[in-house]
Amino acid sequence: MRSSPLSLLISIISAITLSHAMILSTKDLKCGFLGCGTIAAAIATGLASSSDEEVTFSHFHVSKRSASKSAALLSRFGPDKITICESGDNQEILDSSNVIFVCVLPSQLEEVLSKVKFDHERHTIISLVSTSTLPQLISLSSLPPTSVFKMICLPSVATHDGTCLLVPKSETVKKILLPLGGCVGCESEDIMTKMMIPACLMGPMYAIMKGNLDWMVKNGVPAEDASYYIGRTYLGIAKDAEAKCTDPKHFTDLIEEQTPGGINQQAIENLTKLGALDSYDKAMDKILERLTGRGDGKA
Ligand SMILES: NC(=O)c1ccc[n+]([C@@H]2O[C@H](COP(=O)([O-])OP(=O)(O)OC[C@H]3O[C@@H](n4cnc5c(N)ncnc54)[C@H](OP(=O)(O)O)[C@@H]3O)[C@@H](O)[C@H]2O)c1
Repeated sequence: MRSSPLSLLISIISAITLSHAMILSTKDLKCGFLGCGTIAAAIATGLASSSDEEVTFSHFHVSKRSASKSAALLSRFGPDKITICESGDNQEILDSSNVIFVCVLPSQLEEVLSKVKFDHERHTIISLVSTSTLPQLISLSSLPPTSVFKMICLPSVATHDGTCLLVPKSETVKKILLPLGGCVGCESEDIMTKMMIPACLMGPMYAIMKGNLDWMVKNGVPAEDASYYIGRTYLGIAKDAEAKCTDPKHFTDLIEEQTPGGINQQAIENLTKLGALDSYDKAMDKILERLTGRGDGKA
């Protein structure tokens, strides 16, 4: 009996998926970095210093670009772990690696990817380029969709403190990224964009702390004492927030555990009444508008 075109397509996709699953293991990974700037150096540092026994990295191949950063990686981890591609030919990095992190600027992406040839049997790419999309990466690399990923993280991955966002979901790639400080697999690029918003509220968080500092100093507290106390107090608050963060009810629990009729409960009520918490929602809408190109993000 002849197979229908649809069943043929399904069996081809299954074969690709199966062969990919067999190729990408979490042992003896060889990571290549296209671009060696801030984020590439942070990821390489985080992975090379990982003590996770589930995922092992045998070598890191980095471009010579941003020479001070590539040299710092070599000096810290040594030639057994790091090779700098002296020729400047990105193809050499691909030929020596199986997981390729794309860490160039948005304006450099097309030129860099169009000049190299990926190997379907071996390569998985993970793009850090903020403006890149999965269809664009698949088209530029000619790799099957199962080998193409987009990731977002902050430079704190260098110290295993940066939680990565990954799309599409993949248990294997997630395992590879976990040593960087955690990883959330996103259902779609659209969900990933929405997940990015708390990281865009880092600035406002510092602005709140600075506001606390200015208010305390204005009211007679020595600046050094105020600064030290604010930094340490918010750290304690953040640790409590992180402790059970896998439970979505955790933040509600923390709010409910504030003393009934106490000052924290009243501060929540006051800020709600003054519109401060609502304005956070509105600011998040504006960030989303800007991230999706639907507006300039201005309130
Ligand atoms: N910084 C962050 O916190 C962060 C976080 C998440 C995502 N990202 C994304 O990551 C990407 C890189 O950001 P970044 O902050 O790391 O920028 P960056 O420090 O400017 O790094 C860009 C790197 O690309 C290199 N490069 C340029 N042309 C190249 C080529 N033809 N072949 C190989 N390498 C080339 C640059 O080398 P030269 O310096 O020698 O020109 C530099 O090492 C961006 O797309 C950004 O959106 C950044």
